[in-house]
Amino acid sequence: MLLLGLMHAFPCHPLTLFVNGVACKNPNQVTVDDFSFSGLDKPGNTSNKLGSAVNLVNVEKLPGLNTFGISLARIDYAPYGLNPPHTHPRATEVLVVLEGSLYVGFVTTANKLFAKVLNKGDSFVFPIGLIHFQYNYGTTNAVAFAGLSSQNPGVIRVADALFGTKPPISDDVLMKALMVDQNTVDYIQSQFQ
Ligand SMILES: *[C@@H]1O[C@H](CO)[C@@H](O)[C@H](O)[C@H]1NC(C)=O
Repeated sequence: MLLLGLMHAFPCHPLTLFVNGVACKNPNQVTVDDFSFSGLDKPGNTSNKLGSAVNLVNVEKLPGLNTFGISLARIDYAPYGLNPPHTHPRATEVLVVLEGSLYVGFVTTANKLFAKVLNKGDSFVFPIGLIHFQYNYGTTNAVAFAGLSSQNPGVIRVADALFGTKPPISDDVLMKALMVDQNTVDYIQSQFQ
């Protein structure tokens, strides 16, 4: 955990603390509202290219999570909506399907795929740091909730991290890494502008 914390540390002003958290409030100023968040009954807006929406309730939205190593998310999927391959550098995730069916999976460090179809009431674990996805292959909306083992899990989307960076990663790097030609790289990059 210490190593992971260092790997994902952000540069801070030298006089600030180096912790994956936020400053603690004065206990006398804490109220019950610091421990509460509302709105998870509302579907996210899935009118986007991916057909999915994640409402991650981390320590920024629910201050009472601070220092407790836990957070939660609601994920909505339109028919054929995808929560695309991504990883949480600081959290294992456990997901439960409340509506619909999802094809979900993760990939190990040995590039082995563990994937299956989940139906309403089924749950699944995505181990910390591993690339994972959920795809609604059905013709109805799907809804899942997830618990994550960090107050600030972080998210890295694979495609965005390769093709949606600012500035862009050089074509030479992407051509060689993906074994494709420049037109293919440029085309994919154009989809992430
Ligand atoms: C959902 O997002 C789309 C695309 O950004 C937008 O046009 C639409 O107004 C949004 N719908 C709602 C209900 O907010």
